[in-house]
Amino acid sequence: MKLPTSFLPLLLLLSSFSFSSSATKTDDFLNCLAKSSDSTTISKLVYTPANSTFDAALTYSINNLRFAQASTPKPLVIVTPTTESQVQNVIYCTKKTGLEMRIRSGGHSYEGFSYVSSLQFIVLDLRNINNVTLDLSTKTAWVDSGATTGELYYYISRATSAYGFPSGLWSNVGVGGILSGGGILTRRTMGEDLFWAIRGGGGGSFGVVVSWRVNLVPVPPIVTVFRVFRTLEEDMTNIFYKWQSVAPVFPNELDIRCNGQVILSNSSTRSDKKTMQMNFESLYLGPASEVLAIMRERLPELGLVREDLFEVSYIQAMVFFSQFPIQAPPEILLDKTISPRPAFKGSSDFFKEPMPIEGLLGLWDYMFQLPDNQAFLQYTPYGGRMNEISATALPFLYRAGYLYMFNFYAVTCPSREKFAEETARMDWVRTVDEYLTPYVTSNPRSAYVNYVNVWMGQNNPTGSTSYAQASQWGKRYFGVNFDKLVVLKTLADPFNLFRHEQSIPVFSSYSDM
Ligand SMILES: Cc1cc2nc3c(=O)[nH]c(=O)nc-3n(C[C@H](O)[C@H](O)[C@H](O)COP(=O)(O)OP(=O)(O)OC[C@H]3O[C@@H](n4cnc5c(N)ncnc54)[C@H](O)[C@@H]3O)c2cc1C
Ligand SMILES: *[C@@H]1O[C@H](CO)[C@@H](O)[C@H](O)[C@H]1NC(C)=O
Ligand SMILES: *[C@@H]1O[C@H](CO)[C@@H](O)[C@H](O)[C@H]1NC(C)=O
Ligand SMILES: *[C@@H]1O[C@H](CO)[C@@H](O)[C@H](O)[C@H]1NC(C)=O
Repeated sequence: MKLPTSFLPLLLLLSSFSFSSSATKTDDFLNCLAKSSDSTTISKLVYTPANSTFDAALTYSINNLRFAQASTPKPLVIVTPTTESQVQNVIYCTKKTGLEMRIRSGGHSYEGFSYVSSLQFIVLDLRNINNVTLDLSTKTAWVDSGATTGELYYYISRATSAYGFPSGLWSNVGVGGILSGGGILTRRTMGEDLFWAIRGGGGGSFGVVVSWRVNLVPVPPIVTVFRVFRTLEEDMTNIFYKWQSVAPVFPNELDIRCNGQVILSNSSTRSDKKTMQMNFESLYLGPASEVLAIMRERLPELGLVREDLFEVSYIQAMVFFSQFPIQAPPEILLDKTISPRPAFKGSSDFFKEPMPIEGLLGLWDYMFQLPDNQAFLQYTPYGGRMNEISATALPFLYRAGYLYMFNFYAVTCPSREKFAEETARMDWVRTVDEYLTPYVTSNPRSAYVNYVNVWMGQNNPTGSTSYAQASQWGKRYFGVNFDKLVVLKTLADPFNLFRHEQSIPVFSSYSDM
């Protein structure tokens, strides 16, 4: 779940600018594409609603079903290029026809930014650009944006068991979005500033990243993993309370994250038989004996025993963290359809202080307001390698001084018949957000750009968006790095071709007066 701390991208695509304002923008776009690319090749990679396969091509990687409704705006065209030059042509033709473009890699945007727009739009879907090429002599891998983290982990493991790459959990998340942010440019030709911006400045603002070169990280032959569950009746609250301050200062080799939810249990003291349950989920880069020793000293309250621990290869640990059975063959990481896809609304925060017990109990009370298994709390500890990187080294700045990232989400009910329930769920998320205010960071209240949340504000659909307006979410995602991102955006993409609801705005002396 930690952000990649070491990577060198890649190739970016930009091109020159012009507009056409035709009523048949789809035809203009398709004609442009057929002219600029090999027309027989490209036509097999283009879907319009006239193709019977259009719906399947669209829903293929929609992760949040809240944006898979009949009422969700649909693209005019989906293009699934297989080469860089086709990507360039898509960008060129999008500009030429004045359509909006949404860039999609793994489709895991919390708010559907990669496949929804309120304006007429096309989807540039990178699913076919998904090679992972290892270069063990330099301990690097080239990974294309359309690959998933599961594919990245898998292909590294096929080449070597001595290295891994720390990206996220869940194998279906796209590399493009998770590593993100966009000429054909390499690190040298784009310059160090733009190279800085795309590694954390959020996807969809600076261009299309086609491929990333990542530094592999050494891993031991055997790692230890565990996932143990504790309920309220099993002292969960006190264990979690202590976790908050010890987890960020564990040795660098140890990561323990927590996930909370309401379950039904016969040992519950409540009449509705609900209880809160927290799972403590861990990766240790070393043997089980060392985990037990560290836990005895630092978090004995968890009561960890040897039977809780599994010594496995690094790739089996990745299988485990994608919520598959620990002995499942690693090929399961290549399956892009297997992970659950809920409809959900989420929000993120960072904590600098542990939440006091009363605060935790209040949060559990909110959790009890919903049925079991309908809301989820996710805690990702900071510290370790994260702390060794300065707040301005990359756009992502919540590092030293932060205890953990918190992310919660509720399952929602987006179908038209369930409108009241949907509203109630969304209200619940808002209420919990407000409840957390005194406990989380403030001025600005921080949030993680990979967990985008449109409630913080949005760019105007057309025309420019002022710096002040964009600061409402920009400063929450990027803090002091936001200003630099705006300057770099203004230089790199002055006409704001690469945009979405919360992309970095172009500084305009007009709207910013
Ligand atoms: C189930 C689940 C698990 C997750 N686990 C983790 C985790 O463990 N750690 C973590 O840090 N985050 C995690 N996330 C958040 C995840 O990192 C973001 O949702 C990320 O943006 C998804 O990337 P994607 O390519 O799948 O998404 P997409 O929806 O395809 O893209 C997300 C954004 O990036 C833009 N973008 C996509 N590709 C490119 C590209 N090639 N060039 C430029 N812009 C691009 C899109 O336009 C969009 O704005 C998780 C999310 C989900 C839903
Ligand atoms: C979509 O339909 C067009 C027109 O029939 C065809 O040329 C194209 O190959 C189809 N696209 C796909 C991906 O099958
Ligand atoms: C992916 O790898 C294959 C086989 O090596 C190669 O033919 C193809 O051009 C590569 N694709 C990209 C987009 O680099
Ligand atoms: C609770 O106990 C009953 C009776 O023993 C049993 O049938 C049921 O499965 C239990 N429920 C849970 C959630 O454990």
